[in-house]
Amino acid sequence: MSTKTRVILIAVLGLVLAGGGFTLWRAVQPGGIVSQQGESTGKALIGGAFTLTDQSGARRSEADLMGRYSLIYFGYTYCPDVCPTSLSTMTQGLDILAESDAAKAAAVQPVFITIDPERDSVEVMAGYAEHFHPRLLALTGTVEEVAGAAKAYRIYYQKVEEQGSSDYLMDHSSILYLMGPDGSYLTHFTHASTAEDVAKGLAEQVDPALVAGS
Ligand code: NI
Repeated sequence: MSTKTRVILIAVLGLVLAGGGFTLWRAVQPGGIVSQQGESTGKALIGGAFTLTDQSGARRSEADLMGRYSLIYFGYTYCPDVCPTSLSTMTQGLDILAESDAAKAAAVQPVFITIDPERDSVEVMAGYAEHFHPRLLALTGTVEEVAGAAKAYRIYYQKVEEQGSSDYLMDHSSILYLMGPDGSYLTHFTHASTAEDVAKGLAEQVDPALVAGS
């Protein structure tokens, strides 16, 4: 995509995340961590209902994420660079946190949702997820189900056909959301965030006492 289109998309994402008094510069400041605490009005409208299938073939919905924190990343297994990097950042962040505070890390469910359901079957997702984290929940579904989940989380994605090839890439938002035990948006990380940033952000946000069964 053109630089101009990319700039527009980033701007739109900034506005979506605004939900109130945010300005774009905060969303792109170094570290990439944005906290809503102390900001003016309302929660960003991110998250909501979905129905998908996990890597074991079990049907999953937003209800399965309730009662715990969830770190959610949308991407696809054929992604050449951004997705694997982001998933590593997510899972390494969790591992760093686990070293200092195992209870906090255990309170967070890492989730990977594909935006390429045509290629990312249950089997493909199962094989991919095991490279990243033993607790990673990997979700796929029908084209419609994935579209519904992406819409709920304000994720942009689009197929990009390659000239003279049946192969294609997916253009997509690369953003890591931290959602609370009640399913509400807490904060996010971008691909500028490091694993240390993620660990620090989780340490600040996660309260194991709020997690069901703890
Ligand atoms: Ni990607």
